[in-house]
Amino acid sequence: MSTVPELAASYYADAIEEILIDEETLAQRVKELAEATAARHANDPEDLILICVLKGAVMFLTDFSRALPIPSQMEFMAVSSYGAGTSSSGVVRILKDLERDITGRDVVIVEDILDSGLTLSWLIRNLSSRNPRSLEVVTLLRKPEARQSINVECADVGFDIADEFVVGYGLDFNEQFRSLPFVAKLKPEVFQ
Ligand code: IMP
Ligand code: MG
Repeated sequence: MSTVPELAASYYADAIEEILIDEETLAQRVKELAEATAARHANDPEDLILICVLKGAVMFLTDFSRALPIPSQMEFMAVSSYGAGTSSSGVVRILKDLERDITGRDVVIVEDILDSGLTLSWLIRNLSSRNPRSLEVVTLLRKPEARQSINVECADVGFDIADEFVVGYGLDFNEQFRSLPFVAKLKPEVFQ
């Protein structure tokens, strides 16, 4: 009998050009990222607050938190950034805010992918103004533009990838493909 992920993968098979990062590689790297994060906070007695920006980082957050060998709490935020035409302004609107005060807390933003980094640099400024004890970013994927950006400093990066559109493991194209258990490249005709 097929498992649910296998069914989803075969349903989407026609749209996928190539699997870039398979399940096993993801799991191994997520474990390394979680262990490195725990090591950075080894002397801190308080639970970490993991902030997930909906929806793309959901899969990463759930796996990352379960691989984390120290206690953590989860918070979710939803933001909307303005479209391509105005994105250079970096204007972001909060659709759903944190439910807890982060003053004096150790906060980790758990991100799915950094591209221009505009949304995240806004978020870092916004969260910093709430006076956490520490604030860091762990991103699973990073594209070249973000690597060159001085505005977004990451404590850790899972994979540096090329400047191409990827889906799966939480990432979507038109809200589809999030449930795929791997990260994949779409066939060009899917965009057209
Ligand atoms: P940034 O503000 O330009 O860094 O955009 C980051 C956001 O854009 C991510 O959180 C994703 O929601 C989305 N994004 C960027 N690149 C991709 C991709 O290759 N696939 C799916 N979503 C992406
Ligand atoms: Mg995101």
